[in-house]
Amino acid sequence: MTEDTLIRLIDVKRKFKLGDQEVDALRGVTADIRKGEFVVILGPSGSGKTTLLNQIGGIDHPTSGDVIVGSETISKYSEKELTKYRRRKVGWIFQFHNLIPSLTAGENVKLALEMAEIKQDQDEMTRKAMELVGLGGLENRFPAQLSGGQQQRVAIARAIVKNPEIIVADEATGNLDKTTGKQVIDVMTSICKEQGSTFCLVTHDPNLAHSADRLFIIDDGMLYENDQERMAMYGLA
Ligand SMILES: Nc1ncnc2c1ncn2[C@@H]1O[C@H](COP(=O)(O)OP(=O)(O)OP(=O)(O)O)[C@@H](O)[C@H]1O
Ligand SMILES: [Mg+2]
Repeated sequence: MTEDTLIRLIDVKRKFKLGDQEVDALRGVTADIRKGEFVVILGPSGSGKTTLLNQIGGIDHPTSGDVIVGSETISKYSEKELTKYRRRKVGWIFQFHNLIPSLTAGENVKLALEMAEIKQDQDEMTRKAMELVGLGGLENRFPAQLSGGQQQRVAIARAIVKNPEIIVADEATGNLDKTTGKQVIDVMTSICKEQGSTFCLVTHDPNLAHSADRLFIIDDGMLYENDQERMAMYGLA
């Protein structure tokens, strides 16, 4: 652990019960992530990516082990405390952007401020977030009046508008073409640097590895860093 460690995962395990079967989604994940790092976690379908992100992003509790963010052990939080943590401290970007269709782009972004109970400067913060993702002036469009890439950028604006310490992204470019996906990643990396947010992106796409400050590979519920053999399987070694 170093002085600027923001997130500590200590032997994090997550089991799911399915009838009389048990699924080991995370088998003991340990990692330190520093403040301001752009972390990419690469792994195939079913390897535990979403499960891991849910532990960091305040959606789920581990079965055992600890998740420490700053000085808070969030894995010990009650549901209520976890919800508060998620709303205030974490920006979530989902694979399918989950914008509310009956709200304009600007209103979708502003909703994140409402949820975080940030009352001041809502309009100004919204305008700035939309500008940062290159959508200045499109605040009044409804999601259906925007392209897929633009909608995904609104979802990024919604995640960053409250200047969260942590931004987690689950296959955020999975349904975009290569060029648009690259643009969306570039927007994310530059915002990460500008705001000093820590960014955790999970994906199955090795092309996104090049954007990372830190690259992890997740395989069957275990996390690996600098594992030459596994990196070679993705053409990255
Ligand atoms: N709620 C659940 N109940 C039972 N098993 C689950 C549950 N959620 C996930 N799993 C199992 O845990 C493992 C990891 O799932 P997870 O969703 O984290 O994978 P993933 O890497 O995000 O996959 P994908 O790339 O397909 O989204 C899988 O075997 C999955 O079937
Ligand atoms: Mg997933």
